[in-house]
Amino acid sequence: MIQQMEDKIKNNRSVVKEQKGFTLWFTGLSGAGKSTISHILLDKFKKKNLKVELLDGDVVRTNLSKGLGFSKEDRDTNIRRIGFVANLLARNGVIAITAAISPYRAIRDEVRSMHDNFVEVYAKCSLEAAEKRDVKGLYKKARAGEIPQFTGVSDPYEEPLNPEITVETDNGTPEERAEQIIDWLTNNDYL
Ligand code: ADX
Repeated sequence: MIQQMEDKIKNNRSVVKEQKGFTLWFTGLSGAGKSTISHILLDKFKKKNLKVELLDGDVVRTNLSKGLGFSKEDRDTNIRRIGFVANLLARNGVIAITAAISPYRAIRDEVRSMHDNFVEVYAKCSLEAAEKRDVKGLYKKARAGEIPQFTGVSDPYEEPLNPEITVETDNGTPEERAEQIIDWLTNNDYL
């Protein structure tokens, strides 16, 4: 009887597909929609009972990266920290979503190289569109010289050369972009 039950449990384990951990790394200008799309994905993954964590740029900067500024050095430190935590999660079977500008290609590639499963998502938005939306009113301040080293205005943003996914966020809804990402993940055996 006990043996039969053990066999049953063993068989079930082999049938149930284990969740694959990976990092879904968003990059893009401030206001490109990284955070909005990430939150939609977070909800969708939770509804599917998948293990998922979101490391949102603005939130990380209030705890893990508190005290860091926006010099190249500080941004690199911020990205390395996010990459480190994301990798810990991903290698333990969690989907780690990150949503920081991560403007420098070299550091993004450094973070990629420490991962087994890394999916870079470029939230591609023209500066004009991001600035027009100006959800947080920061572009206006940056133009007025009140915020120095503002990405896209007075600081560089290096586009990814070979992102796994590019979502064009000038047009369309965040919901559509989230679906586009889910389709890619499904077709490429991440989900
Ligand atoms: S990153 O460059 O280190 O990846 P991160 O995503 O954490 O940036 O933080 C960006 C957010 O900080 C922006 O969305 C914006 O709200 C705010 N911010 C404040 N100052 C700046 C700045 N100089 N450049 C870009 N974003 C800034």
